[in-house]
Amino acid sequence: MKKTFLFLTIIFSLVVMAACGQSNKDGANGEKSSDKKVLTMATSADFAPFESRNPSGDIEGFDIDLANAIADELGYKLEIKDMKFDGLIGALQAKRVDMVLAGMSATEKRKKNVDFSTEYNRSGEMFITLKDSNIKTVDDLKGKTLGVQLGTIQEEGAKELQKKINFTAKPLDNATTLIQELLTKRIDAAYLDKSVATGYIKEQNLAGFDDPTSSSPGMAIAFPKGSALVKDVNKALDKLEQNGKLQELKDKWLKDQQ
Ligand code: ARG
Repeated sequence: MKKTFLFLTIIFSLVVMAACGQSNKDGANGEKSSDKKVLTMATSADFAPFESRNPSGDIEGFDIDLANAIADELGYKLEIKDMKFDGLIGALQAKRVDMVLAGMSATEKRKKNVDFSTEYNRSGEMFITLKDSNIKTVDDLKGKTLGVQLGTIQEEGAKELQKKINFTAKPLDNATTLIQELLTKRIDAAYLDKSVATGYIKEQNLAGFDDPTSSSPGMAIAFPKGSALVKDVNKALDKLEQNGKLQELKDKWLKDQQ
């Protein structure tokens, strides 16, 4: 009898303790914020309007809002790591991060090393130049220097183009440096995603023309090969598309870019 009483007391105390522990962790809205799982995302914050640093140094953009919406949907807390674009695939392969959102095009070549979500945006390619430049078509690149970002589809595209046209390709590891190089005439043209290029053309009063040579695949979220997250993230993306949130983010960040 005594033993049963003791046993019940212990059980009762354990239940009370567990309940207290629980309520301590609960946030104001009943969310258990402190024990939310962390989702680590990597990006290369040199690519407005997808990801860039605002004047106070915080990373913002379409990809950041989208990643936060996905993390919310799946009950994760999002952590962002900023790296060079060229290092993103390696970070996924080494499983140092859970996913990458970096305006990354889901190419067949990359699919050999990483898995991709469904595509969330499409953008073409553009060449941008100074306003008074005489480069108006790809053929005019002959004898000139074309800047590209290291590790991008534009770097690959430039190599293809060099088979037909004789120009120098200058790979740089930061996309914003490309614009500085163009403005200071260290390169004659820069090769960029259209949504990013149109932003710079407006902002820096530059000129540009569409790339007639390539049609690039859409942008998607990248994961380590075999990641169980792909399925969940695709579900979340689907929901955000159905409920209009994805369109809302496109209107917020990409409206002038299309
Ligand atoms: N869409 C291009 C690619 O996938 C360029 C992406 C560059 N992204 C960046 N955050 N700098 O290769």
